[in-house]
Amino acid sequence: MLKEECIRKAMELDWPITCLEETDSTNLRLKEIARSGDLRPRMLCAESQTAGRGRLGRSFLSPGESGMYMSLLLPLPKDALPLTIRAAVAVCRAVEEETGKALSIKWVNDLFWQGKKVCGILAEGVGNMAVLGIGLNLRMPKGGFPGVPIAGALETDAERERLMGRVAFHVKRTLDEDGQAVLSFYRQRMFLMEKEITFLQNGQEKTARVLGVDEAGGLVVLCDGKEEILRTGEVSIGSHQFLEYKQPQ
Ligand code: BTN
Repeated sequence: MLKEECIRKAMELDWPITCLEETDSTNLRLKEIARSGDLRPRMLCAESQTAGRGRLGRSFLSPGESGMYMSLLLPLPKDALPLTIRAAVAVCRAVEEETGKALSIKWVNDLFWQGKKVCGILAEGVGNMAVLGIGLNLRMPKGGFPGVPIAGALETDAERERLMGRVAFHVKRTLDEDGQAVLSFYRQRMFLMEKEITFLQNGQEKTARVLGVDEAGGLVVLCDGKEEILRTGEVSIGSHQFLEYKQPQ
């Protein structure tokens, strides 16, 4: 069972913490708490999830022991840089601090280690607050990640509770930090720069070249000779480009 006192020590915040053995989805449970009227920032985490939710209606495999599943109820950022971008930076900082591993970011907020996705982030609105869910694969589950060839694990013995606490600490820090400072870290870790990507626009597959990330976290691309900014959705990259990908130093 997850130990609340270890999380609290690492978190350095007095936010309420709820640890569950098993739940359907920590995001769903935290939204329920927020809807009951308790809008204080807080953390809810679980040893395992039976219906972990991913972006774009996908599921997120959340077996016990091998991963870290947590949700935070938070106010929205005060400037234009979205919470999802800030959260990606916060997880990178916490993971590096605790394991020495420097993760890379695939826009918007998928985190990669050695060419595999090891962390997913899902932000959902509730009133004028947000529930930020973070799932980090620490070790490969026995059966792997069936049907998700891109998924992998960090392969670390770092203590889960400590990592959760440090992630919460860094999320709070990025919320208090100037968005442009957070963005400069994000741009250094975002590995799609200059790459050719594909994405869906009005049901049509488009190919584009990535030029950068704008001040509000949008992906700036060159598509059909014109500059465009993607604000939501997902982009894909050919698998050969994952092989070419280099770990940040
Ligand atoms: C994605 O990669 O599509 C986002 C995955 C987010 C998973 C986390 S695990 C904790 C929280 N609870 C959920 O149901 N989902 C998020």
